Amino acid sequence: MPEFQTSPGMRDILPPESARWRRFVAAFAETVTAAGYGQIIPPLLEDIGVFHRVGEATDIVTKEMYDFVDKGDRHVALRPEQTASVCRAFVQHRPATPWKVWYSGPNFRYERPQRGRYRQFDQVGIEVLGANDPYLDVEVISLGWSFFKRLGLQQVQLHLNSLGEPENRQNFVAALQTYFTDNIVRLSDASKTTLAKNALRVLDSKRPEDNEVIAGAPKISDFYSDDARLHFETVQSGLRALNIPFTVNEKLVRGLDYYRHTTFEFVGGTLDSAQNAIGGGGRYDGLVEDLGGPSTGGIGFALGLDRTLIACDDEGVFAPSPSPVDVFVVDTAGGLEALIITQQLRDAGISTDRSYENKSMKSQMKAADKSGARIAIIIGTDEVSAQSFVLRPLRGDEQQSTISRSELIPSIMKALL
Ligand code: HAM
Repeated sequence: MPEFQTSPGMRDILPPESARWRRFVAAFAETVTAAGYGQIIPPLLEDIGVFHRVGEATDIVTKEMYDFVDKGDRHVALRPEQTASVCRAFVQHRPATPWKVWYSGPNFRYERPQRGRYRQFDQVGIEVLGANDPYLDVEVISLGWSFFKRLGLQQVQLHLNSLGEPENRQNFVAALQTYFTDNIVRLSDASKTTLAKNALRVLDSKRPEDNEVIAGAPKISDFYSDDARLHFETVQSGLRALNIPFTVNEKLVRGLDYYRHTTFEFVGGTLDSAQNAIGGGGRYDGLVEDLGGPSTGGIGFALGLDRTLIACDDEGVFAPSPSPVDVFVVDTAGGLEALIITQQLRDAGISTDRSYENKSMKSQMKAADKSGARIAIIIGTDEVSAQSFVLRPLRGDEQQSTISRSELIPSIMKALL
């Protein structure tokens, strides 16, 4: 085993998989740019206080943060997600509202690694700041939904909930606290620990021994104010109007503390239940204020790129594809001619690769075949002195031809049409 390997939960993404990642982000960018979202590129690292606002009582903040004190004595952390950074940027730059942005890139959480759960993972996402319209919630959800359809995924399900207004949520959490405390002997040990920190998160337990107690727990819907109920009903009617199927799941509380009103998760049909959320989001109307800005509505989602690609593999869609070049230059005359011609072809916008180290004709032709190129240019000593080269089609049954140097680029362009 080599002395150095990637750290646990971190991976190298190699070609051709890396090309699939690029296509994924490009497809997402196209989907959301067409809906008026502009890209934000926040830094990977922020003052740790930015992330504390995400939820003092969540594992993401208390246990999983990659934080350290930098050389200037600042306590900083690698971002565990990007919503907090977007809100910090909003407070810092005060753009006009509604501010509609999208992002992509890595996030860091010190979790126990397993299939679909990594310590460095990528997300793509959108956020909208400065609008409270429930139909905006529908737009945001529908953009996520459309993107999954664009990838070809058929088995994604949308789970929807509302956590109501802050007071509704507070009263609900207080009722849960009382209920779970009264029934503590029936809870799993893990849920007893969770209860001591955050009663809401007990609802998230996937342990079968907790099922019965959770089934009898108070329901958030009993705590909604009229406004919260109306907001939630409007979101549901909007989703129905767009024919987006959804399931109301009152146990959907999400792993971050900033949510109010609408919350949702996109669940993959083929993944293990502990890692089946391929995306999630919701409203976080108080977060901008918590970061020192004015009272501002906010909603968005993030999709897990690593996990969504696992779902794509499981469903046999959006497969990795090689990125072949158009032309491969074979040179048995020393390589200088290949160097020059390759450069000229690339300058003319023709994707071109070549062999190195003056290998044998046979080995270079093998490499040409492997490259996926459609045409090989063959250069031998005779060709160099005659300044004409052999063009050999590598696909189909066209004949090879000999072309003078001045005709090389136009002939290749014609052959590639
Ligand atoms: P989240 O649910 O923590 O929400 O993460 C969103 C998605 O990122 C998850 O559904 C999952 O697909 C992926 N993900 C999370 N952790 C991991 C991991 N350790 N390994 C692989 N994939 C992972 C957020 O991050 C919020 N910022 C979403 C949001 C945006 N809410 C409002 N706006």
